[in-house]
Amino acid sequence: MNAPLPVQMLKQHLIDPEICIRCNTCEETCPVDAITHDSNNYVVNPDICNGCMACVPPCPTGSIDNWRMVLRSEAYSVQDQLGWEELPQEKSLPQAADAGVALDAPDIAAAAVSASFAVPGASIPPWSAAHPYVNLYTHKTPMTATVVGNYRVTGVDTESDIHHIVLDFGELPFPVLEGQSIGILPPGTDAQGRPHHARQYSLASPRDGERAGYNNLSLTVKRVTEDHGGVAAHGVCSNYLCDLAKNDTVQVIGPFGHTFLMPNHPRANLIMICTGTGSAPMRAMTERYRRRIDTGENGRLMLFFGARTERELPYFGPLMKLPRDFIDINLALSREAGQPKRYVQDLIRERAAPVLDLLSDRNTCIYVCGLKGMEVGVLDALRDVTMQSGQDWSILHDVLRREGRLHFETY
Ligand code: A2P
Repeated sequence: MNAPLPVQMLKQHLIDPEICIRCNTCEETCPVDAITHDSNNYVVNPDICNGCMACVPPCPTGSIDNWRMVLRSEAYSVQDQLGWEELPQEKSLPQAADAGVALDAPDIAAAAVSASFAVPGASIPPWSAAHPYVNLYTHKTPMTATVVGNYRVTGVDTESDIHHIVLDFGELPFPVLEGQSIGILPPGTDAQGRPHHARQYSLASPRDGERAGYNNLSLTVKRVTEDHGGVAAHGVCSNYLCDLAKNDTVQVIGPFGHTFLMPNHPRANLIMICTGTGSAPMRAMTERYRRRIDTGENGRLMLFFGARTERELPYFGPLMKLPRDFIDINLALSREAGQPKRYVQDLIRERAAPVLDLLSDRNTCIYVCGLKGMEVGVLDALRDVTMQSGQDWSILHDVLRREGRLHFETY
């Protein structure tokens, strides 16, 4: 017998560089470390990716969900992909039905099941979430917004320079929901002379505008002056935004996000856990509830908010003016003089009774936004609180994810 060897084909997983907003979600999510990046692109290593799909639902733009049939021997390498400005055209290939062609693709459905809980939160929104619009405006077709407000929301003498920035879209449509984000294209070029990539910011305003009935939205932006390791660094987009003046214009893309969305049914409760600028989506959801307070249909709101000090907690003044029977506010301050260091997870344990009460209600959704480091701490605290009541956290955790009731957005 002298039969020809089968030609190996691969369903190759690729990321669209024109839509990707370089938010790092896919790289963090990938359970086998197949995703990597440089200053230009996020890419998938074809030698490692097993097509498990764990990275697909969390991607806020959908840029991750691209596939090309290629000959195994001609798969696009990591180096190829890092240099791309756009996805390559589909190549014509031997028909898979032809004798001698073997499809080298992972069993995607089976792999997806095993990897579906690689991430701590849900990859679907709650059942009563409104349907979001995504990617209406892209790098190639950005929307111009006008700055109608920009003011500092932390104490002037503190290190945390956090701004509340209001952008107006005039007569052009930019429909959004609480929990979604937008991309800002900072002007100028990077060290390689390429236009800067978009930076992603969560909305701080509800769906009907920063000012109800107006075609505007707000962002909470912290001026970046050092990197995560504390080394001096100049945040290109955050400094650009914090320095904007009224009537300046900004290039905006998006909206993004289809899972970190609030429930809409009456009596839905929210547990909101955040640090610093992670408060933006919590402000949006809280304001949505506040505007319909008179309907009598609101569920309960419980907020755990971490900041260094009161003066470094964005929106401290307006937050503290909200009625106590409207929202249960718990502030975790880590560097307040004369007070012990507290993190949000400490307060979740201290308030175990009301947290448990809310967890026992299937109308409760949990949102966590802020520092990546708090993810583990918050999950541990929720586990401890659950165990106190004799329940099995792993079962409840799975239920919360399956029902789209536990959401993380950390950075
Ligand atoms: P810390 O004082 O230890 O940095 P930031 O101002 O840097 O955005 O941080 C917001 C708050 O989050 C601060 O109080 C900070 O405390 C706190 N924080 C830092 N790491 C964690 C963590 N792993 N879990 C919860 N909170 C954290």
